[in-house]
Amino acid sequence: MEKFGFSLHVDQKLFDADIAVNKAWAHALVEVGIYTEREKEQVCTAFESIQNDFHAGLLTFPADAEDIHSANERWLTQRCGDVGAKIHTGRSRNDQVVTDLRIYLRTQNQAMQNALEALQTALVDLSEQHIVTIFPGQTHLRQAQPISFAFYLLAFFYQLQRNRQRLREALTRCNKMPLGAGAIAGSGFPVDREKLAQILGFDAPTENSYDATADRDCVNEHLFICAQTMVHLSRLAEDFIIWSSEGFRFIEVDEAYATGSSMMPQKRNPDSLELIRGKSARVIGNLTTGLTLLKGIPTAYVRDLQEDKEPLFDSLEQTIAAVQILYGVIRSLIVYPDNMLNAIDPMLFATDVADYLVRKGVPFRHAHALVGLLVSTAERRGASLSTLPLDIYQQHSNLFEADVYQLFDPVSALKKREISGGTGEKSVTAQINHARILLED
Ligand code: ARG
Repeated sequence: MEKFGFSLHVDQKLFDADIAVNKAWAHALVEVGIYTEREKEQVCTAFESIQNDFHAGLLTFPADAEDIHSANERWLTQRCGDVGAKIHTGRSRNDQVVTDLRIYLRTQNQAMQNALEALQTALVDLSEQHIVTIFPGQTHLRQAQPISFAFYLLAFFYQLQRNRQRLREALTRCNKMPLGAGAIAGSGFPVDREKLAQILGFDAPTENSYDATADRDCVNEHLFICAQTMVHLSRLAEDFIIWSSEGFRFIEVDEAYATGSSMMPQKRNPDSLELIRGKSARVIGNLTTGLTLLKGIPTAYVRDLQEDKEPLFDSLEQTIAAVQILYGVIRSLIVYPDNMLNAIDPMLFATDVADYLVRKGVPFRHAHALVGLLVSTAERRGASLSTLPLDIYQQHSNLFEADVYQLFDPVSALKKREISGGTGEKSVTAQINHARILLED
């Protein structure tokens, strides 16, 4: 049972948070007459030396400690005797563990925001170089319409922006302090929780102790944000894997983020991207764990809740690492604009040909059908829309004139998409400016 209940190998990540919570609690215990000022000083000094020794690797875990909270308490008692034995007065591990957890979450939330912000900056910087880099935009993984390569990169910027926003919003809900909630009913000692919250950097104490010790929705919220972020990253990774393959060669991942094959000397595999895609599976799994963990347990602390930490720590660490790796990939990405341009199939302008007819008064449905016929005719002749002779065009509609061939210039195609949110040069520039403002905010 000892082995089965042991969680120190996981929850020692809460060490620093637990020290901070202990020191604040020692302070609260002075107010309620459990500690004298001097005893509190003794406790705080002991915790500081425990913290130094721990980080210097000088401590071994006490044999009877099952989690980091009991380890810290044992170490304190080893150093301060009965003064240490008083530290758990009016407190439960139920409120202690979730207070630690929220402090840890706060730090990791900020770290993830910083990592996202750096990646977003790298994306905007790269976008600035590719505002008029013509790219064959795809839907269904089939060429759809010409777009600017920056436009694609900015799509990903906005996805990351929403994740960063989610993190900020999650903090407003998670940064409340459970300490003082006791096991379920509130501490039996009337500590000043407002003051404690202030000392520990929380916005306020939690409003209801039953809720505070029972719930882990702030854990699940972060598990979701990690999963959603990884899904965004994974899709971009998939795009890049495809576009860097021999069939496309639109981009190339720098050697630092690729590895060779152990067997085939010519290979440069996009391992960084494949790992991001692969790790997303695990982070999605962690979200499922978090939700499943809560769904059937009664509303109050139960030991099942100990299992919340491993998935949470894993998701945050893997997601932050993935964002940082992708940052490196983007900063060192090699882009081949010529290959992008040359890959453009003139059939890609079919929508513009239909719009051409629409501008001359043809209802869109008819124009769509007519251009569909032109596409089949071109395919039958082994030609493309751009090489189909004018008389063939005119056989389909006498509204076609020689200026129809101007449609096949990708640069002017982009110019027709200057709508806000569009892929035109001005629209993309506006998006870049907006992105810069979001980053400064
Ligand atoms: N290690 C436990 C956890 O992470 C805290 C222990 C509380 N145990 C208890 N029996 N009340 O949830």
